[in-house]
Amino acid sequence: APLRAYVQALPKAELHVHLVGSAGIDTVLDLARRHPEAGVPADRAELAEFFRFRDFDHFLRVYWAVQSMLKGRDDIRTLVVGLAADLARQGARYAEVTVTPYNHLLDGMPGDELLEGLTEGRALAAAEHGVDLAWCFDIPGEKGLVAGRETLLFALRERPDGLVSFGLGGPEVGVGRAQFAPFFTAAREAGLHSVPHAGETSGPATVWSAVHDLGAERIGHGTSAAADPALLAHLAGHRIPVEVCPTSNVRTGQVPSIEAHPVRRLLDHGVVVTLNTDDPPMFGATLTGEYLAVAGALGLRPAEIARLAANSVTSSFLSAEAKAALL
Ligand code: HPA
Ligand code: ZN
Repeated sequence: APLRAYVQALPKAELHVHLVGSAGIDTVLDLARRHPEAGVPADRAELAEFFRFRDFDHFLRVYWAVQSMLKGRDDIRTLVVGLAADLARQGARYAEVTVTPYNHLLDGMPGDELLEGLTEGRALAAAEHGVDLAWCFDIPGEKGLVAGRETLLFALRERPDGLVSFGLGGPEVGVGRAQFAPFFTAAREAGLHSVPHAGETSGPATVWSAVHDLGAERIGHGTSAAADPALLAHLAGHRIPVEVCPTSNVRTGQVPSIEAHPVRRLLDHGVVVTLNTDDPPMFGATLTGEYLAVAGALGLRPAEIARLAANSVTSSFLSAEAKAALL
């Protein structure tokens, strides 16, 4: 318990968390009762079973079922404020939260409702929980170029307060990163940072493509970079941080256990590692828990744990002054 309190108190940021995947269990149960057609169990034990993922594709199908129950601004605001409350309990006062506008629009949510929910939630997060939130709008890669175009247009047209980055999620196998290069180029020219998922469910070539084709400034996951010494050297040398999500990788079957996670190899090669939750209630993960799990598996000393926490702040897209204020 002393170590938990130590980690809880460390200044730290959450840099990889999906808004839909941050829906608390009680929120999901409530939504499931109101939207039985989504096929999400409204019973606590059944929901726990529903959240046992056979593999990554199964995880995505479950994720999309939860997403389909979100209908308007109140649902979005509820998620945002719930996430902020969770972050405050973890001792995190800043997060960059991934939102996938194209999926919500496809599910019939008007863009204005999404934006109002985000903006109202963000104000409440700061006022009620002392948590500052920023947004990453990401492309659901499996939906192809039309999703890339619509996500870019939505981001640049609406530019809500707090939007700092542009991402790419979903499956990696069969969804090449390079096809999305024009959208990332335009987003970067408009001042958004590039943060694609890469190397979560496919090999190091995907991470190379994220770097070369999408100008990645951080890598979502980046786990498989550990298999490529030249890539490790590149990420370390250019100080391109990776957003490691250990429990997520175990729960979607990408790695057999935290002990077997290549995070040690990433650290040994000087890569800037940050620890994150991805989809916390779905994976039964908490931010503090990720630090404790990795510290336990790798036998980290308190100073090394503190270093990981500091990485999360320095790797964020906050201004230099805001980073200094957090640390
Ligand atoms: N990877 C890709 N897509 C996702 C994820 C993830 O970790 N979480 C939610 N959508
Ligand atoms: Zn993710």
